[in-house]
Amino acid sequence: MREFLDVATEIAREAGAILLAEFDHPATITYKGEVDLVTQADRRSEECVVSRLRTAFPTHAIVGEEGSGHEHLAKGAARSHYRWYVDPLDGTTNFAHGYPCFAVSIALVEDEEPIAGVVFNPVARELFAAAKGQGAWLNQKKIHVSKIDRLAVGLLGTGFPAHKRVENPNIHYYWRFTLASHGVRRDGSAALDLCGVACGRFDGFWEFGLKPWDTAAGTLIVREAGGMVTTFDGRPYHPGDATCLASNGLIHDEMRALTTDIAERSPASPG
Ligand code: IPD
Ligand code: CA
Ligand code: CA
Repeated sequence: MREFLDVATEIAREAGAILLAEFDHPATITYKGEVDLVTQADRRSEECVVSRLRTAFPTHAIVGEEGSGHEHLAKGAARSHYRWYVDPLDGTTNFAHGYPCFAVSIALVEDEEPIAGVVFNPVARELFAAAKGQGAWLNQKKIHVSKIDRLAVGLLGTGFPAHKRVENPNIHYYWRFTLASHGVRRDGSAALDLCGVACGRFDGFWEFGLKPWDTAAGTLIVREAGGMVTTFDGRPYHPGDATCLASNGLIHDEMRALTTDIAERSPASPG
C-alpha cells in the first residue's frame, strides 16, 4: 500500500509542476462541448501521470479523464483488480481563467474501493494523501475533520458542472444550503473541496454527477480523516455515483434531511 502511495505522490508532484509551468503561459484552449474546455495543461499532465503509472504498475488498469475513460492496460496483461483514476487537472475552468485553484488527483481503487489517494494543489503546495486504514495527511501531517455539530454554523462547499448546466438541479440546493448554514463556497475543484472537508476547512460538501476521477482520491481522504461520504439517500458513496454528500459525520444527518426536503419541494430532483 505504502509503495502505491509513494509512487502516486511523486507523480502528482511531477504533474503539478507541469500545471504550474503551463499556468504561467497563455492557455491553449479547446472545447469538448460549448463550455466544456480542455487545455494543453490537462493533456500534458495526463500524459505524464498515465505514462509514469503504466511504467510503475504495468498490470494495473488506468482511467484518465482526457483519455475519455479508456482503460490503458498493458498488452496481454490479465484483467487487474486494481484501477487508477486520474484527473490530471481538476479545476480546468479556474485554470483557464487564471484563478489559482486547481489540483492533480490520483487514486487507486481495488474492486472499486479507493485504497490510496493523492490530491496535489501546486499553487498552495498542499499535498493531501490517504491510505486505507492508515489515516490522511496534509503535507505529511495527520489531518482530521472538524468538530462542528450543527449545520447552522457549518461552512460548506459545492460545485456545478461546466456542461449541461441547465439540467443540473444544484441551484435549488445551493439556495437552501446557503440559508441553512454559515455559508457555501463554490471553488471549482471537487477534489480540493473534498480535501477541504477532510482537513476541517469545510464541514460538509455535496455535488451531483461527479465522475470517479473527481472523487476517488478525495473520498478516501475524507473517510481516513474521520468523515463520511454517502449518496443523498445514505448509501456509502462509490466513485461515479449520481450524488455525493461528504461531511465531518456530525452534520451528516442534518444535511441529508435537507437534501430530501429540497428534492421533494423543488421541480428537479437528483439524477
Ligand atoms: C470539475 C470540477 C468542479 C466540479 C465539476 C467537475 P474539471 O472538474 O471538479 O469543481 O463542479 O463537476 O467536472 O472539469 O475541472 O476536471
Ligand atoms: Ca474534475
Ligand atoms: Ca479534469
